[in-house]
This record gives sequence, C-alpha cells and structure tokens, in this order.
Amino acid sequence: MLVTGNDILVPARAGKYGVAAFNTNNMEITQAIIHTAERLRSPVIVQMSEGAIKYGGQDLANIVKDIATRASVPVALHLDHGSSYVNALKAIKMGFTSVMIDASHHPFEENVAETRRVVEAAHAMGISVESELGRLGGIEEHVVVDEKDAFLTDPQEAVQFVEQTGTDYLAIAIGTSHGAYKGKGRPFIDQARIEQIGNLLSIPLVAHGSSGVPKEIVERFRASGGEIGDAAGIADEDLEQATQHGIAKVNVDTDLRLASTVGIREVLKASPKEFDPRKVFGPARDVMAQIVEHKLRVLGSVGKA
Ligand code: G3H
Ligand code: 13P
Ligand code: NA
Ligand code: ZN
Repeated sequence: MLVTGNDILVPARAGKYGVAAFNTNNMEITQAIIHTAERLRSPVIVQMSEGAIKYGGQDLANIVKDIATRASVPVALHLDHGSSYVNALKAIKMGFTSVMIDASHHPFEENVAETRRVVEAAHAMGISVESELGRLGGIEEHVVVDEKDAFLTDPQEAVQFVEQTGTDYLAIAIGTSHGAYKGKGRPFIDQARIEQIGNLLSIPLVAHGSSGVPKEIVERFRASGGEIGDAAGIADEDLEQATQHGIAKVNVDTDLRLASTVGIREVLKASPKEFDPRKVFGPARDVMAQIVEHKLRVLGSVGKA
C-alpha cells in the first residue's frame, strides 16, 4: 500500500530499525525495490530526485505509485533533495506522499523559513516532510574537531530547527557523502553525534550517502570492463549501529546504480550477440534485488510489515 513517510518512519524510529530509501529512475529499479520488500515483509521508501523527475516525469511517478499501491507492504514515494517550495508542491501534485526540502546550503534562518513554508503546505495535504541541517561531504577521521563542527550538524541547532520548522524527519550531516568514494578504508560516520542528536530529538533522523559500495560489486564492475577508482562506502555494522540511536531513514542510490550496471555489463560481455532488452535488463534487476535484500537485512526492517 502507498502510505506517507511518517507512516513508515515513526514506527521505525520507535522500534530502532532503519528503513531503506532507494532512488529509482526506471521500472526495473522500482520492481527490484518493491518486490524484494514484499518478499521480505519490509516497509520501504522509493525516492525520485529532481533529476529522476526530469528523466521519467509523471510516467515514472505513476509506475512507482501503481506498484506501491498494489504492494502487500507499506511503500512511500518520496521527493529526494527537493530544491524549492515550488518543486516540493509540484511533487505533491504528482502524487508523492513524502517530500524533502533541502535548503541546507542556506544560512540557518533561511533554511528554517523555506522548510517551514513547505511543512505548512505539505501538512495541509497530509504529506510528510524531510529537511536537512548541516552539510554533507566526505570527512576523514583525522580532521580536527573545529573543522568537523563547521559543517556537521550541531545538536543544539538541530533542536531549534525542528521546533521552528515542524519538520517530520531530519537529515543530519554525520560525515557521509554521496557517491562511490566516501573515504579510504572504512569511511567515517560520526556515531557520537548521531547519539547526541538522537537523545535530544524523538523524530526519525535521516542518513544520506549510505551506500555500502560492496567490494564484490566493485570487483564485478571491474571484471566486466568498468573503470572505477578507490571506491568505498559505509560499513554494514556502522549503519546497524546508527539505527540504534535514531537513524530511521537510510538513503541508497549508488549501490543500485553499480548493481544495475554490473548486471548489464556481465550479460553484454558474456553474450555479445544478445540484443533482447529483457535478457539485458532482467539480470540487472536480479543483481539490484540482491543488494536491496542485503540492505533490508542490515537495517533490520525485514518482517516489520
Ligand atoms: O543525492 C543524490 C542522489 O543520488 C540522486 O542523484 O540527482 O543524479 O538523480 P541524481
Ligand atoms: P549514496 O550515493 O551513498 O547512495 O547516497 C544517496 C543519497 O543520499 C540520496 O539522497
Ligand atoms: Na531525501
Ligand atoms: Zn542525499
């Protein structure tokens, strides 16, 4: 069933498990996400960025909504990194049940003002809202505390921000970054900061940049002709720990991008004569489904729906 973000995330926060929010850009990605969630009795969030809306538009939103509506588990359709009030409202008009307004690059007061007006409009229509405080971007463990504090989320500010905006869930900057290169070895994630913020706030917290960039997938990408540098993601144990202290929504895009490309590359490499799209995209969907299953198990949402 298609539900709001709050319907899924409030129980997750209370139950100390995480819900994966996977980005989609086509039918196969959407099927891998929702059908795997159904098989494992897990709630799940499907999110579209503004780039995904530009690429797939109402057609793609309708595919997600249709599969979600017929699904046997709760599914929310979420706008990822909405950049303005207008775009957040457009997404609601398209049928999204959760929207993010990301005004985190603005000064605090402007972030509050922009977030607040999205919250007021969205709540009037029964839609829940994610907003963000702090700056994402990879940060190494050895960076001095002052520098870290400059862009990681300040716990006291987070409390003020939530009070002043009425946001339903809050993305916090904890050292993670978008993409396949999150740092050397085991990339840094600020567990102490998550715990501090989690102790001060009872709403669901959101971790962006949470792909694991699994070694096996990176190796298969290379073995099938792909070129990739020193890729690394957030360790499974680190994500699991984060869900114990308030992280309830865990954003994943890169892992499914890699998985789909690996599936496609392997088929084309092994079978140069193949040109049936189902024989190309089908295996890609299978590799993505394995990644989805792994993530749902790590986050502890399996069996919660
Ligand atoms: O946060 C970024 C997500 O991975 C979406 O990326 O804007 O290229 O669709 P995109
Ligand atoms: P990854 O690049 O780690 O998959 O993060 C995706 C994300 O945060 C989307 O908002
Ligand atoms: Na988001
Ligand atoms: Zn993000």
